Amino acid sequence: MSAPLVIAVDGPAAAGKGTLALRLARALDLPYLDTGLLYRATGRRMLDAGLDPASPADGQARLVTLEDLSRTDLRVPQVDRAASLVASQPTVRRILVGIQRDFAARHGAVLDGRDIGTVIFPDARVKLFVTASLAARARRRWEQMTTDPDAPDREAQIARVARELQDRDAADSSRAAAPLRAAPDAIHIETDDMSADEVLAEALRIVARMTR
Ligand code: CDP
Ligand code: CDP
Repeated sequence: MSAPLVIAVDGPAAAGKGTLALRLARALDLPYLDTGLLYRATGRRMLDAGLDPASPADGQARLVTLEDLSRTDLRVPQVDRAASLVASQPTVRRILVGIQRDFAARHGAVLDGRDIGTVIFPDARVKLFVTASLAARARRRWEQMTTDPDAPDREAQIARVARELQDRDAADSSRAAAPLRAAPDAIHIETDDMSADEVLAEALRIVARMTR
């Protein structure tokens, strides 16, 4: 019997990894795991405990379970930063490897993150690296978060989001432990001029080709 199908979706912040990975999972009837939520849940726990997310976070990472990932307070700017800080700690990453590998062990899975194709599943049958320009990513993240799409200071808000994404990507790419990097055998999808539907169609073509 062939090994369960694992699809790795990596890339920088707000590139559309999660949107693609969820749609791929639905289309292929595979379980889906947003691995960023593991680091967000760890960062959230540090903040809730009154701890500095830059200090050792392995104790809080050990407490993270799949149930924590449905918390509704994980996608706020404070947790973006806390997640990136705890994610730079090798001990935290080691603790969270197990959840990710176990998740895909039985039925395969689509996982999105930063190091899925390089560290978590270096043998994944399909590895996608999803990118978009900083300007496109900042606009997408702002549109996701804003409550006032016609805000008069819209451009200034988007510029602020761009700075935050750039800082987080720089930290994620330059850390020693599992930096954000495309696996040598990853297939890149540059999504600036593509809709989410077009990205899904392209990814499904790649999957069909790689799993023939
Ligand atoms: O959705 P977005 O791309 O903004 O972030 P995320 O995927 O939820 O990840 C939040 C943070 O967790 C990232 O900035 C990384 O520092 C970290 N992360 C990681 O180190 N490795 C992963 N596999 C996933 C996320
Ligand atoms: O998971 P990641 O942080 O990489 O990005 P996301 O949260 O999946 O996507 C950010 C936003 O971009 C979502 O609102 C998507 O609908 C939108 N988007 C996309 O994912 N793909 C495109 N080709 C265009 C827009």
